Amino acid sequence: MRARITTVFACQSCGAVSPKWLGRCPDCSEWNSYVEEFRGERPAAAAVSASSPISTVVSDPETRIETALPGLDRVLGGGIVPGSVVLLGGEPGIGKSTLLLQVARGVARASGEVLYVSGEESASQVRLRGERLGIREERLLVLAETDVTRVIAECEARPPSVVVVDSIQAVRDPALSSAPGTVSQVRECASALLRWAKARTVPVLLIGHVTKDGSLAGPKSLEHLVDAVVTIEGERGSSRRIVRATKNRFGPVEELALYEMTGAGLSEIANPSAALLAERRAGVAGSAVAAAREGSRSLLVEIQALVGASSAGSPRRVALGVDPGRLALLLAVLEGAGVALSTREVFASCAGGLDIREPACDLAVVAAIVSSARNAPLPGGAVAFGEIGLLGEVRTVPAAASRLREAAALGFTIAYLPAGNAADAAGFPEIAARPVARVADFLKELDRVRSEK
Ligand code: TYD
Ligand code: MG
Repeated sequence: MRARITTVFACQSCGAVSPKWLGRCPDCSEWNSYVEEFRGERPAAAAVSASSPISTVVSDPETRIETALPGLDRVLGGGIVPGSVVLLGGEPGIGKSTLLLQVARGVARASGEVLYVSGEESASQVRLRGERLGIREERLLVLAETDVTRVIAECEARPPSVVVVDSIQAVRDPALSSAPGTVSQVRECASALLRWAKARTVPVLLIGHVTKDGSLAGPKSLEHLVDAVVTIEGERGSSRRIVRATKNRFGPVEELALYEMTGAGLSEIANPSAALLAERRAGVAGSAVAAAREGSRSLLVEIQALVGASSAGSPRRVALGVDPGRLALLLAVLEGAGVALSTREVFASCAGGLDIREPACDLAVVAAIVSSARNAPLPGGAVAFGEIGLLGEVRTVPAAASRLREAAALGFTIAYLPAGNAADAAGFPEIAARPVARVADFLKELDRVRSEK
């Protein structure tokens, strides 16, 4: 006999319970805090011992499933871990369905059947997208379904190697009265799929629509539940897409892959540094190249700054793709070193839509600001890296050799780097190392270069 399951609405703030949804909690006065939850008896699990000695528990998730997209595999830490649940988040229209259909093809080709559950589009719409991508795999099965219990029944009836659910906002558990896409539904459906994934050691990839303003909040509430969160982003009007992991129980975070949305799906950009620098105009004041690290790789990115006259009132400080807190710190350090900026507006950005939070980019940010403030371009072929401390000291950074190798590979010839990393430059005869110990020394060095011209 199936146990009776009832649902109630519970305040997520104080735990008060109500049989119906309330806009405001009568106990703690919180607004919009009621979420539908299951109560009462759930069917008890069969009384079979499932415990096992720790020595026999399989700990090695190294039998990973490759997606045939090397960049995404790297972002995941080497492919998909069996039994893991991955959430792919991104704005509507950014390319989530495209990416996972390509993944589905890769897995179907190499590993086995893939079930692609489409809750948003009909099977024929999925097929149309597949045709555009040139996908004809026999082992790629499409199921147009929104009832999560039927999705799981299909998975049980014909267990695939990988399940894709497009999207978690489109599926629903009929036992809940809430509408699809609400926090209750999203959470319950994801939990049900997660239980299935763990029980059968089959990975489930969930698509979640997320907007920057947070207006589609459902998938956000899943981040603690899933094993990995991968995001796909892109600037408006640009075909470049950045795929990265923001959470990963089975691999590193901050690993990154660049893709180009083409007429035939997403294609990986093989040399990200070259692509990021392609639009750069050398010899322009306010532009500097940072040798940054993203995950396990080095990446050259352009940092731009614009220092302008201030209007009345407090001058604006705008950071795009660079850490606003660090920008404030760097401006204070520069002020202390004699660069008058307190009354001027400062804009600093990382070009290419990248978000670089690494302190090692400090020196390049400073270089771009000084270059703009003095209207003096930096020497061509120069890169910079180094973290700057509150006292104006240029601090040693990790992986200097890897940064220099990337710079050398792209033809750069000068590197401004922390004095503490000077020894790392020994292996790169093609690069003239300019070690700097303090911001003041760096400013002097830039003055020297200018006077030589
Ligand atoms: P889609 O994967 O449907 O986005 P999401 O699932 O994140 O909402 O992709 C949306 C856009 O991508 C759409 O505007 C069309 C474009 N696109 C291409 O440019 N090339 C392609 O090969 C495909 C399939 C889509
Ligand atoms: Mg889609």
